[in-house]
Amino acid sequence: MHNDEWSTETTDPVVIVGSGHSGVAVAAGLRTRGWEGGILLIEGESGLPYERPPLSKELLKDGAPNESSVLRKDKFYADKGIVRLAGVSAESIDRGARTVLLSDGTRQAYHRLVIATGSRARPLTVPGAGLPGVRSLRTRDDALELKRLLVPGARVAIIGAGYIGLEVAAAAAATGCEVTVLEFQDRVMSRVTSAHVSHHFEQLHGRHGVRFVFGAAVTSIDGGQRAERVTVADGTVFPADVVLAGIGVLPNQELAADAGLDCRDGILVDGDGRTSDPAIYASGDVTRFTSPIDGASQRLECIQNALAQADRVAAHVTGQAAAEPEIPWFWTVQHGVRLQTAGVRHPADQVIVRGEPSIGKFSVVYLRDGRLAAVDTIANLADFRTAKRLIAEGARIDPRLAADSDIPLAEAVSGTPKHSDADLAAARS
Ligand code: APR
Repeated sequence: MHNDEWSTETTDPVVIVGSGHSGVAVAAGLRTRGWEGGILLIEGESGLPYERPPLSKELLKDGAPNESSVLRKDKFYADKGIVRLAGVSAESIDRGARTVLLSDGTRQAYHRLVIATGSRARPLTVPGAGLPGVRSLRTRDDALELKRLLVPGARVAIIGAGYIGLEVAAAAAATGCEVTVLEFQDRVMSRVTSAHVSHHFEQLHGRHGVRFVFGAAVTSIDGGQRAERVTVADGTVFPADVVLAGIGVLPNQELAADAGLDCRDGILVDGDGRTSDPAIYASGDVTRFTSPIDGASQRLECIQNALAQADRVAAHVTGQAAAEPEIPWFWTVQHGVRLQTAGVRHPADQVIVRGEPSIGKFSVVYLRDGRLAAVDTIANLADFRTAKRLIAEGARIDPRLAADSDIPLAEAVSGTPKHSDADLAAARS
């Protein structure tokens, strides 16, 4: 189907730019909520929209993407009357005329525009960052190229010990590569978790032969035809056949910013996903918004948020009420160990460890003003599920009870008369 067919419609379509989790969910949600007008999904990449989490996990291990890694099969879009334009980017917006200029030179009129352009890997800017062999990982093509480079015996230098760097480190080590992770901070995953969890994962990687260098500021990458070594600020040189930069993401907000929409490290949206132009919405990683939980300004990089905002947009466009969103949650798998996080931790939160890190089953509970704000769980699905509910409820938690992993987290809610000091002593005996 070509977009000329929209000329037969009585109204212009909802045009969605970006077909990641959020863009596809807006399209699907509009149909579920009864939107009968046109829906046009514009995507710069070719092929069917796909899942991103497996790119740094299963795909690096197993190779080619399989059918289950697409978000929806072709038939779904056909059945729902969702028109996809793949391999075409939106270049600019004419807000007065309500049109989008596309990279194929055509202009597309919109009734409502949804910007779901997501984020891109933050580029490494040191000298030599453009040499062949220096990679980042965000798209399926990035993952396939990286997979090709991760051969047994390859020396792999990973810059950044975040989710991406660590998942790639695990895949590379499992392939038989020699892996060194160069991290600017003094521990792994410092943006997202506390020192307890960082140390657990650092040790896990160490057992699989991954080497860490902390406080490492990369100053250059050098080589002849391709990357051969990485130099850090103290002058140490690390030989490398492959360099992967996993140093965070930047929101793809340029389309909105160039059109004069309010942006500040993300497109600013309200609780309905509306930007500063009432005919334009934004959804997913690219947005910044006020947390309904604690009033903080935030940009969330997670599927939960991509889906929750998509529902809000679809609800608002169709004049309906949105579903109550889930608490933000995140996960990573490294060397087969799954870390599941619910809520968004702040560095100043009170930190309570539940369970025994040495046996690989524990949780870290984060309290803010006495209330459960976030939890990290390792091999503890019960705590993860309970915490999601308690965070949503704004539950007050008794730190002493929460520290005792023999007591279910739900029973650490303070105000429940269930646990007197005598009960607590009995539970421990
Ligand atoms: N040198 C070394 N380390 C750096 C540098 C640098 N120049 N710049 C940043 N870092 C480190 C940060 O300290 C941090 O530990 O890189 C790490 C980046 O971690 P994340 O912010 O988690 O970003 P990344 O791992 O790239 O993941 C980006 O992809 O998995 C998805 O949506 C998920 O939010 C995640 C996103």
